[in-house]
Amino acid sequence: TLHASIDDSLRRLGTDHVDLYYVHVDDRATPLEETLEALAEIVRAGKARYIGWSNVRTWRLERIRGLCERNGWPAPVALQQQHSYLRPRTGLDVASVVDHEQLDYLRAHEDLTLVAYSPILRGIYDDPAKRRDHWMMERYAGPDAEARLEVLTAVAAEVGVTPNQLVLSWMLHQSSPRTVPLIGPRTLAQFEAALPALDLTLSAELLARLDAAGA
Ligand SMILES: NC(=O)c1ccc[n+]([C@@H]2O[C@H](COP(=O)([O-])OP(=O)(O)OC[C@H]3O[C@@H](n4cnc5c(N)ncnc54)[C@H](OP(=O)(O)O)[C@@H]3O)[C@@H](O)[C@H]2O)c1
Repeated sequence: TLHASIDDSLRRLGTDHVDLYYVHVDDRATPLEETLEALAEIVRAGKARYIGWSNVRTWRLERIRGLCERNGWPAPVALQQQHSYLRPRTGLDVASVVDHEQLDYLRAHEDLTLVAYSPILRGIYDDPAKRRDHWMMERYAGPDAEARLEVLTAVAAEVGVTPNQLVLSWMLHQSSPRTVPLIGPRTLAQFEAALPALDLTLSAELLARLDAAGA
């Protein structure tokens, strides 16, 4: 499947290699050795430079990295998970959402970059109605989210940016783990609205306020 998929992707993209090739969802039914060996062959053939993994639990990641080390296979350099400024509610058990343990793991393994998908949680930060109704909020809603939203909104007003922009900037300021927000704008205007986050510099004091917020 992987060999056919990469060849099809390269053909559709009209290129001879991709920089990063992800396993989209951790596949618990196929022996990891088979998957990793196929990925190693793809890298060796020059079709992908690096590999990444997505929607995976931390213990699996550790197993993946151990197998790579023992067999000389390229280990994932990118971990693509759902991650944002709001923290998952207590008791949430979803493999694709970064939890405390995964953050701790990432902090201890700096060769792995967190690629945060749904970084603005589909736009809930700028839109109170969406915050009330969007299914994604079920994963975050609670006192901790409320406390963080309050501080986020206040800091955004002080800095003169939107809460969405502040969340993206806060992520770009993270160094442990290093975090790359993967935005999904639906319109050009949404894309343009995200761009100022790249140029925003947040002081240590503001970052500390944002980090400390919570219940
Ligand atoms: N690995 C995985 O399993 C996985 C899963 C999900 C996503 N991803 C990847 O991550 C990327 C980003 O994920 P995502 O689309 O969930 O990210 P996101 O940026 O959090 O959400 C995108 C949505 O946010 C809203 N939005 C964007 N810019 C906005 C703005 N300036 N103001 C208000 N609302 C705004 C839009 O919603 P409306 O359409 O309502 O306007 C848009 O559809 C995807 O494109 C995909 O490549 C990967």
